[in-house]
Amino acid sequence: MSYYKIENLEQYFKHYNKSIREPRKFWSKIASENFTWYQECEKVMEFDMSEAKIKWFVDAKVNIVKNCIDRHLARKGDKTAIIFEPNNPNEEAQHISYNDLYISVSKMSNVLREQGIKKGDRVCIYLPMIPELAISVLACARIGAIHSVVFAGFSASAVEARINDSACKMVITSDGGYRGEKTIDLKGIIDEALTNCPSVEKVLVAKRTNAEINMKEGRDQWLQPLVDEASDNSVAEIMDAEDPLFILYTSGSTGKPKGMVHTTAGYMVYTAYTFKNVFSYEENDVFWCTADIGWITGHSYILYGPLLNGATTVMFEGIPSYPDFSRFWEIIEKHKVTQFYTAPTAVRALAKEKLEYVLKFPLKSLKVIGSVGEPINEEAWHWYNDHVGGKRCPLVDTWWQTETGGILISALAFITPTKPTYASLPLPGIQPILMNEKRNEIEGNQIEGSLCIKFPWPGIARTIWGDHQRYKETYFTAFPGKYFTGDGALRDEVGYYRITGRVDDVVIVSGHNLGTAPIEDAINEHPAVAESAIVGFPHDVKGKALYGFVILKESGEYRDRTNLAKEINQHISDHIGPIAKLDKIQFVSGLPKTRSGKIMRRILRKIAEGDYSNFGDTSTLLNPEIVDEIKEGRL
Ligand code: WT7
Repeated sequence: MSYYKIENLEQYFKHYNKSIREPRKFWSKIASENFTWYQECEKVMEFDMSEAKIKWFVDAKVNIVKNCIDRHLARKGDKTAIIFEPNNPNEEAQHISYNDLYISVSKMSNVLREQGIKKGDRVCIYLPMIPELAISVLACARIGAIHSVVFAGFSASAVEARINDSACKMVITSDGGYRGEKTIDLKGIIDEALTNCPSVEKVLVAKRTNAEINMKEGRDQWLQPLVDEASDNSVAEIMDAEDPLFILYTSGSTGKPKGMVHTTAGYMVYTAYTFKNVFSYEENDVFWCTADIGWITGHSYILYGPLLNGATTVMFEGIPSYPDFSRFWEIIEKHKVTQFYTAPTAVRALAKEKLEYVLKFPLKSLKVIGSVGEPINEEAWHWYNDHVGGKRCPLVDTWWQTETGGILISALAFITPTKPTYASLPLPGIQPILMNEKRNEIEGNQIEGSLCIKFPWPGIARTIWGDHQRYKETYFTAFPGKYFTGDGALRDEVGYYRITGRVDDVVIVSGHNLGTAPIEDAINEHPAVAESAIVGFPHDVKGKALYGFVILKESGEYRDRTNLAKEINQHISDHIGPIAKLDKIQFVSGLPKTRSGKIMRRILRKIAEGDYSNFGDTSTLLNPEIVDEIKEGRL
């Protein structure tokens, strides 16, 4: 019997039970039957959760790109691997076959080698959603270089911090990028970032917008001429199962961004398996995930998961509102998309527009629709289910994180009955538990608590680049020996999970994970600011938006506050990126603090929400009088 594809609900429970009772047998069978290995593992897994040490497929040797591309060539070399849909609908879409992809990735990998990149070197990729992005990622993986994709919406200082944290040797970027009607000067941002990045030796520049850019002598080179010259014969590097495949930065509730490290074999097996089962992928499907490859969703479900299954995956350069709000539906129709995977924030934004935008399109090709990134509220769920899924496509609400590598809790399309706003059941191999304030597991159903996972799965990140101690403290210390997700969840009467949101100082804005601390740090660097505190508050499109409480240095005396608010947002934009801008900024004379000096954010959260009913215990506040002042000044 094969465990790779779950056929029905009964089999799901069977596989699930097997995966819990005998995780090693379960995963080793999947690994061995569905992938090409140079050498299979000696031991399926090894772990010590209290030390945050986890290994899968110990001593196995593999190359993930051989599995994504080479092994499909004999049977489906001519099949389309990637459909590239440009920002401008009048520009022709590109259909990149597995053969084409093999050649492009091989050439690119030789370019990297010729430019001095070796196994283990870090390469920062700062590109828009163009084919070169996919090709660069895969070329790195082919030669064992560690890719660190930085979302091309991050500011120069955010890119700089990420490049320096992992000492990248090379940056791959483009002359610019398109986003609706705008063009973005990516090379300019990289030039600014690199004034302070001593590790970077080479910059390769793809051409996209033909913008005039500066090329720094000895450092910068146009990519295309190098590719044209390169050989398409590229021997893949033999990688150890636990060699790092990539670093992807995610913001934490404190301090600098965390470079989550994913390793090769476990990530490969887990993304392939979850892609196949959650989306019920079949041979002739056309899968479209609307995320950017700069996020984990794009890594796992635009590139690796689909390509490992030999699927056709759509890569869209543009945005849902350009040229108008029917763009998504037009693309589904144009490419006969069968699985469509997007974020609740996009659904809510589109649901605000005229219904005709979507009703114009029959969307008959669709079989499955998916949601990811934040809790999907009831209203958005129904709009998506009714008008996009036509009430006939299962809506899979997939809960996971940058750290988890792949989906952990989700319905499996056509198998698990869905329930609005519930992610539903764990994937095989995943053991969620809910913990109470006393840090004990709460058993049974109809309960709510902090969501932890009590056993490792192949896709879990292995460490934070350069800081294993922080990895251990962030994820394995709050509930010793368990992986703590940072989310709260409830389990209903039948065992379905509903994610209720973050229980730490991370706010999910439009599906982007934003730590409050780095934003506060950015604000506090403004010369007029003494201190600040950021909280999330409900927003009808973004899910959550940011509310900042700011204390000025010379309170009351400082010039025009509207302008100051704008300056603060510009400051955030420069330090982190436009996604972290505040929707509301309230100037206050103080912040509610405990005697130990800790800001009581729970009160600020309540005020931002406009809920003054129950502030809870405020007896430890040093300055209770400030609460009324802040309430009165609420925006
Ligand atoms: C956080 C992780 C991996 C997906 C992209 C975001 C929230 C994610 C859901 C969902 C409710 C969700 C959680 C999680 N989240 N998916 N289906 N329902 N919440 O990855 O940036 O690492 O953020 O996104 O709060 O912890 P990320």
